Amino acid sequence: MNPEPRTSQALNALTVAFLALTLAFLLDLWGRPLALTEIPPVDPQFTNTATVRLSIADQIAAGADPSDWDCYICHDRKKPPQLRFDENQNLLIPEEHEDIQLHHGSHNRNNNCFNCHNENNLDLLQTRDGRELKLAESTPLCGSCHGPTYRDWEAGAHGRANGHWHDSFGPRLRQACVACHDPHAPAFPQQKVGPGPYPLRPVDIPTAHPQPPH
Ligand code: HEC
Ligand code: HEC
Ligand code: HEC
Ligand code: HEC
Repeated sequence: MNPEPRTSQALNALTVAFLALTLAFLLDLWGRPLALTEIPPVDPQFTNTATVRLSIADQIAAGADPSDWDCYICHDRKKPPQLRFDENQNLLIPEEHEDIQLHHGSHNRNNNCFNCHNENNLDLLQTRDGRELKLAESTPLCGSCHGPTYRDWEAGAHGRANGHWHDSFGPRLRQACVACHDPHAPAFPQQKVGPGPYPLRPVDIPTAHPQPPH
């Protein structure tokens, strides 16, 4: 028996089949797999490790002139400033200090400059228990009224540390209260919520949780 005609029949059939497949692929008969979506880089705002505020200590460390906080350029050492209040016992802030908005606690419970500043030496802060501190060393002042938060901060549960996690790799830097809180209006400003994680593949689920039937 001669196998020749069968072989060429089979080869012809294969050629036709492959040509049909080529056509099918070219015409996208079964569609293409979805291309992966481009993942844009995260807004650097969310990876920035800087604190929201530059304290006086931060500014001095960055090379600012310490005499910027020389109160006695304007004030008289022998005359402590007089606090003035309106008829509703709201503290009046003089024009020279209009950048200060005193809003510390609800119901104006902490609206006396001298709860924190020393009236007899404006260069210093004073705690309730009579300790005197430099303007740039205010964390123990906050601690003198906010004991529980201060203890949390010392233990690392409030605020945050920059630098290294373990001392053997380098210094750990505890951020001062005033690197995050304005001492005159300490409520923490609202932050923009960071973006969620990107899935590796396109997600095609209409709702995260299946809705119960009606
Ligand atoms: C540019 C000038 C200037 C500088 C600098 C300045 N002050 Fe004053 N301050 C004034 C004037 C003017 C008043 C209102 C008159 C007064 O009470 O002596 C005032 C008032 C005050 C008051 C009373 C506020 C009130 O509401 O009645 C306090 C407290 C005070 N200053 C603290 C300070 C401290 C602390 C510093 C330094 C960190 C400082 N000032 C630096 C000009 C200044
Ligand atoms: C003389 C006492 C005293 C000192 C010193 C003090 N605080 Fe307060 N703080 C208060 C009181 C009182 C409240 C209001 C608590 C309330 O209303 O329940 C408050 C509230 C706050 C709040 C909550 C937000 C708000 O405005 O209610 C923050 C944050 C805060 N303080 C941070 C600080 C920081 C940071 C320092 C140091 C610069 C500091 N405090 C120093 C007495 C103090
Ligand atoms: C709760 C404590 C507290 C009270 C109340 C307070 N201060 Fe201060 N103040 C501070 C601290 C702490 C700093 C240093 C902040 C830093 O390191 O950024 C400061 C800084 C300042 C400065 C210099 C830097 C700046 O922000 O301009 C002036 C001026 C000042 N305070 C004036 C006043 C006056 C006037 C009042 C009353 C109207 C007042 N403070 C009430 C804690 C207080
Ligand atoms: C790295 C930033 C950071 C540092 C440093 C920091 N805080 Fe806070 N603090 C926050 C944030 C964020 C909140 C929460 C604000 C909110 O929930 O609206 C907060 C809340 C608070 C409150 C409000 C009441 C509470 O406990 O929820 C107080 C009081 C307070 N901080 C005091 C302090 C004191 C005192 C220090 C220093 C010993 C300090 N903070 C250091 C960021 C900081």
